[in-house]
Amino acid sequence: SEEELDGRIRAAKATLGDRVVILGHFYQREEVVQHADYVGDSFQLATAAKGRSDAEAIVFCGVHFMAETADLLSQPDQAVILPNLAAGCSMADMADIDQVEECWEQLEEVLGDLDAVDADGRVPVIPVTYMNSSAAIKGFVGRHGGIVCTSSNAQTVLEWAFERGRRVLFFPDQHLGRNTAKAMGVPLEQMPMWNPRRALGGSSATELVDARVILWHGFCSVHRRFTVGQIDQARAEHPGVRVIVHPECPMEVVDAADEAGSTEYIRRAIDEATEPTAFAIGTEINLVRRLAAQYPQHEIFCLDPVVCPCSTMYRIHPGYLAWVLEELVAGRTPNRITVSDDVADPARVALERMLAAKP
Ligand code: 13P
Ligand code: SF4
Repeated sequence: SEEELDGRIRAAKATLGDRVVILGHFYQREEVVQHADYVGDSFQLATAAKGRSDAEAIVFCGVHFMAETADLLSQPDQAVILPNLAAGCSMADMADIDQVEECWEQLEEVLGDLDAVDADGRVPVIPVTYMNSSAAIKGFVGRHGGIVCTSSNAQTVLEWAFERGRRVLFFPDQHLGRNTAKAMGVPLEQMPMWNPRRALGGSSATELVDARVILWHGFCSVHRRFTVGQIDQARAEHPGVRVIVHPECPMEVVDAADEAGSTEYIRRAIDEATEPTAFAIGTEINLVRRLAAQYPQHEIFCLDPVVCPCSTMYRIHPGYLAWVLEELVAGRTPNRITVSDDVADPARVALERMLAAKP
């Protein structure tokens, strides 16, 4: 039962003490989040993993790419544990390392030597990957002068990239790439999309030469469900409503909203509202429900009336959390996530560039 699991988790945690740190993403269910030592967005959890070098084990209640990132940023002797190995991210899976390598080769055919520096000191293209990608992709980016971003620092990172490159190749999320570049004034005509199933990504050589941002054909199946119609309805039913959506939503939705930002941005916007306010939120339901419970002075609801959890985040059932903690108590290290050295070194370079990029 839920109570029994809760008791097992508490008991194991008490035995382990400071030897273990539990990190929980905002999208985790309540029964898991309540046991986390840190709850945050993907950027905050990456820095939390880096900051807890005293703990022997980091139990990451989130998805696979987040656990890989924690392994990259933590100490070599720290074990990063993902309670359920089937917790992936369908968006991260949309950029496969072979497809990205192939894309790079095709770009080189069109744009010439990709390491050649022009008179302004810039190379033809800088690769930028969203945190929601495999360690192999982060390694690719690190090897080619590129950088990682999250939804909380995408604009800062794109500015960093434009100082060093004439163009950006952005993957896997087309929406975060498009929404961020548009907010920076990049015209849509200069954002062709790369579809890995087509030659030259489905673009002409001229479009690629003229491009400022080449977008990858990836998306989040949770965030693409939000629509302008839902925003219109929320505004009609709740006059004065503040509509805040995650930048993984399609461009029309971000344009129709009042604000767009990362999960931590959404939390902070609500936290800082002094007057009772209606908030219509375009992001994952577990976070929206938790915010509604935490801030009863506001009316907080999800834009999508049909419940839309992230099904892979949901795979971290409290039963798995209890199991991994009890294994740690018994001296075993189950479900350890380790990134191999050949990938880890360049991937760390790309992550450290992100951590050093300042607005
Ligand atoms: P955040 O970076 O806002 O935590 O988002 C991560 C994510 O997976 C959103 O779908
Ligand atoms: Fe991936 Fe979307 Fe789930 Fe975030 S909400 S982990 S992007 S599938």
